[in-house]
Amino acid sequence: MTAPDTASAASAGPRQILVTSALPYANGQIHLGHLVEYIQTDIWVRALRMHGHEVYYVGADDTHGTPVMLSAEKEGVAPRALIERVWREHKQDFDNFLVSFDNYYSTDSDENRVLCESIFLALKDAGLIDAREIEQAYDPVKEMFLPDRFIKGECPKCGAKDQYGDSCEVCGSTYQPTDLVNPYSAISGATPVRRASTHYFFRLSDPRCENFLRGWVGGLAQPEATNKMREWLGEAGDAKLADWDISRDAPYFGFEIPGAPGKYFYVWLDAPVGYYASFKHLAAQRGLDFDAWVRPGATAEQYHFIGKDILYFHTLFWPAMLEFSGHRTPTNVFAHGFLTVDGAKMSKSRGTFITARSFVETGLNPEWLRYYFAAKLNATMEDIDLNFGDFQARVNSDIVGKYVNIASRAAGFLSKRFEGRVQDSAMHHPLLGTLRAALPQIAAYYEAREYGRAVRQTMELADAVNAYVDAAKPWDQAKDDANAVALHETVSVSLEAFRLLSIALKPVMPALAAKVEAFLDVAPFVWSDGDVPLSSARPINAYKHLMTRVDPKQIEALVAANRATLLPTGNAPAQAATTATVTATAEPQSAVISIDDFAKVDLRVARIVDCKTVEGSNKLLQLTLDVGEETTRNVFSGIQSAYRPEDLVGKLTVMVANLAPRKMKFGLSEGMVLAASASDEKAEPGLYILEPHPGAQPGMRVK
Ligand code: 2FM
Ligand code: ZN
Repeated sequence: MTAPDTASAASAGPRQILVTSALPYANGQIHLGHLVEYIQTDIWVRALRMHGHEVYYVGADDTHGTPVMLSAEKEGVAPRALIERVWREHKQDFDNFLVSFDNYYSTDSDENRVLCESIFLALKDAGLIDAREIEQAYDPVKEMFLPDRFIKGECPKCGAKDQYGDSCEVCGSTYQPTDLVNPYSAISGATPVRRASTHYFFRLSDPRCENFLRGWVGGLAQPEATNKMREWLGEAGDAKLADWDISRDAPYFGFEIPGAPGKYFYVWLDAPVGYYASFKHLAAQRGLDFDAWVRPGATAEQYHFIGKDILYFHTLFWPAMLEFSGHRTPTNVFAHGFLTVDGAKMSKSRGTFITARSFVETGLNPEWLRYYFAAKLNATMEDIDLNFGDFQARVNSDIVGKYVNIASRAAGFLSKRFEGRVQDSAMHHPLLGTLRAALPQIAAYYEAREYGRAVRQTMELADAVNAYVDAAKPWDQAKDDANAVALHETVSVSLEAFRLLSIALKPVMPALAAKVEAFLDVAPFVWSDGDVPLSSARPINAYKHLMTRVDPKQIEALVAANRATLLPTGNAPAQAATTATVTATAEPQSAVISIDDFAKVDLRVARIVDCKTVEGSNKLLQLTLDVGEETTRNVFSGIQSAYRPEDLVGKLTVMVANLAPRKMKFGLSEGMVLAASASDEKAEPGLYILEPHPGAQPGMRVK
C-alpha cells in the first residue's frame, strides 16, 4: 500500500517506474510557471533513465469542464476543435523545452472514457457512490448551473461591486456565493436562481476511505504533505472528510456518466484517470502489460509530480479512487511550490507572465531555463523565484564561464598537437578520481529531487578543474615542445573532467550533452560511464561551439513581448462580464462629496512592521501596522495576489485609521490599507498599495 521510499529503492537494480506531471488545462498557454513542474519531472525522469531503469513518463491535456466549453463557445468553435489546436501548441512547447514524454495524450480519449466508467462502476459496486439532490445557482438565460467562479455580485460586508462568489478583494472578507448582494452570472449577466438537481457523490466520508487514507499518508515523501493530509483527516473518528461531488449537469464538456443521461463526470474525476489513459495508450503501442502496472501487487513504482495547490486531489481523491476500484495506489506524490518572477507573482502588466512560446521565439535557449530552475529546485514545496539578473549571471558564469570553457580551452590543443587522442595514463589523475567518486552522489541528489545540490556540487567540481588548468597553464606549456608530455596530460585530464561534468549535467541539459557525446564520439551517457574513461583509441571530433551567453537584450525583448496592454486578456469570467466595467480607466466616478464628508475619513501614514500570509486564505495578507500609536494595528488586506509578505515589511503605506474594526474569520481587522486597482481586480493590471514619498512618518495624517 505505501511506498518503497525512493532512496532505499535506489540500489535495488533495474526498476519499472511510471511518472506523471499534472495535466495542463486545454484552454490556456504553457507559461514559465507550468514549466517549473515539467522541467522538474523531466530532470528526474532523465536521471533515472540514466541508471537503465524502465521509466515511462506520460502526460496529457486536461480537456474537460465548463471553462473549456465556454472558451470554445467564445471562439465560435466546437470544444474538440479548440482542444486539438491547444494540444498541438502544448506539445510543441514541451518539445521545445526538451520535456521527454513517452506519450503526450488527451483526457478526451476513448481509453479515458472506458477507464472512468469502469472506475465509477467499481466504486458504485463497492457502495461508495451516492446519488443526492442538491440546490445550486442556475443561470436562467444561459440555461446552465453556475460554478462558483462564474457568480459575481456585491460584497455582503463592504458593498464593493463585482466581487467573486467566495471572497471580497476589497475588504478581504470570505463568504458563500449565496451571501453576495445582487448576484449575477458572469456569463450572461442574469440573476442566478436556485435550482435542485441530482448529483453523484464519492463517499469519501465512508470509514473505509478514512482508514485507508490514514495508512496511505504514512508513505508520503514530503513532511509538509503528510502534515496537510493529517490536518484534512483530523483525529481518528473525527469524520472530517466530506463526500466529493463528482457529477455535473448538461451542458458540460466531458464524459456522460453510465446510466445517468444528462449527467457528466466532473473534470477533476476524469483528469487523474487521464494519467492511466495516457499510459494505457503507450502500453498498447509498446506491447506492455498495462494491467500488471496498475493492478494491486504491481511491482512497478508510480509517481505524480504536482503543484502544491492540487495536493488535495492527489493525496485524497485519487488514491481513494484507485484503492476502491481495484487498482494499485501511487508510490508517492511530489509537490513543488509556485514560481515568482523578480520576487512577485507573475503579472501580465509587468511582462513577467511569460509564455513558453515567447521564451523560445525571443531566441532564449530553453536549456538556460532548465539549468536555472534546476539550480533553484529542491525537494520541498517552497516557492522558487526567477530573477532575470541572477538568471543571466548564473547561466553566463556557470554554464559558459565554468563548464563549457573547460572544453573550449582543451580541445584546440588536443586536436592540433595530439591528433585528438588523449593520453591514456592521464586518465588515472587524482582529480578525475574525485570527479568519478562524486557522480553517484550527484545521481542520488537528482533522485532525491535535490537538484540545487546536484548543480552546486557539479559547479564546485568545475571550479576545481578550472583551478587545475589555471595552475598547469597549458598556454605556457604549449610554448616549448619539451613540455609536450605535460601539455598532453593537462588537456587530457581537462577533457576527461569535462566529460564527467557533462554526465553530471545531462539530466538538466540533455541537448548540450548530446552535442558533447558527438564531439567526444561516445555513446549516449549513462551514470556508469563515469568509470569508462576516454581512450586514445578513439580520437575526439573537431570542437564546435557548445553554448552562447545570455544577452541582456534578449531578456528585455522577452519582457516586452509578454507585457499586456491595459485591456484585460484574462479568462472567461472577466471578459464575459456584461455589467462590470473592465478597464483600469473606465471605472465611473463616485458621487460628489463635501470636504466635511472627506474629513470624516482619518487617513494615516503607517509602517508595515510585519506581514504574513493567512492560513486558509489565498487572498489575504495579515499586516501589523505602526500608526504612531502605543500599540500596533492588525489589518487583513486582500492583496496576496500582488505581493509577497517579505517584500512589504518595512514599507510605508496609507491606512484608514478610523474604520470600525471588523471581526473576520481569521481575527479582528483594525483598519484598511489603501490600494489602487482596476475595477476588476482579476484583470491586469492588479493591485498597487499606496506608498508616501520618503520622509513621511508613521502616524502622520493624510489630507
Ligand atoms: O490544476 C490544473 O491545472 C489541473 N488541470 C491539473 C490536473 S492534474 C491531474 F489530475 F490530471
Ligand atoms: Zn468587501
